[in-house]
Amino acid sequence: ALGLVAGGDLVGRRVVISAGGTREPLDPVRYLGNRSSGRQGVALARAAVARGAQVTLVGANLAVPVPPGVELVPVGSAAELREAVRVAAKDADVVVMAAAVADYRPVSPAGTKLKKTGAPPVLELVETVDILAELAHDRLRDGQVVVGFAAETGDETASVLEHGRAKARRKGADLLVVNAVGEGQGFGTPDNAVTILDGTGAVVAEASGSKDVVADAVWDAVRALG
Ligand code: CTP
Ligand code: CA
Repeated sequence: ALGLVAGGDLVGRRVVISAGGTREPLDPVRYLGNRSSGRQGVALARAAVARGAQVTLVGANLAVPVPPGVELVPVGSAAELREAVRVAAKDADVVVMAAAVADYRPVSPAGTKLKKTGAPPVLELVETVDILAELAHDRLRDGQVVVGFAAETGDETASVLEHGRAKARRKGADLLVVNAVGEGQGFGTPDNAVTILDGTGAVVAEASGSKDVVADAVWDAVRALG
């Protein structure tokens, strides 16, 4: 409802949103990637524009169109996404990491196309930088709000919410938007159900419905931080 107020409640706010899925090159033609479409991040960008924000979208391999009024910075890999987000975040009031960032990348991508040799290669991987944790630690601008996302499944060690709480505490972000994946929820689907946690792991909001509904709930939670 706040989004319908003339002018909007994010007027004068500069927000940076990362969206999509990174691709980590193996050689000039191959990569390690993931199934993120960028839909939730794009919905966040659309909602922020509607509420009056100035929006920069750092988009990794987006499968969906960028809404009007959004400044797009296209990127490919996790390293490119990190650099673009940090540059844009220098004068942002809010940074939302909605992108699916690779946890590992090939240690040294080949400069020429890898040939089939008959001996299956073993890929050597190295961990990528945790961009969200780094942003939360650095706070590139005074009073900057940092928001993360987490797609979780329950397992034998913990429930979706328990994994979310542990991650919220670990990351140091102001908000962590947790969604359950599996059972037809999450990647590539139009609808979403999320629990929004603060940095201590406490539940501050719940939302379900379209990715647009979830996007507005995230901006409401950001607004509620003051
Ligand atoms: N993220 C990031 N940089 C990475 C990996 C993840 O900034 N190298 C961000 C994502 O954009 C998201 C949040 O961290 O906002 C949570 O990502 P997730 O994959 O759920 O967390 P991880 O810490 O990578 O833990 P795991 O994959 O083991 O669950
Ligand atoms: Ca991860």
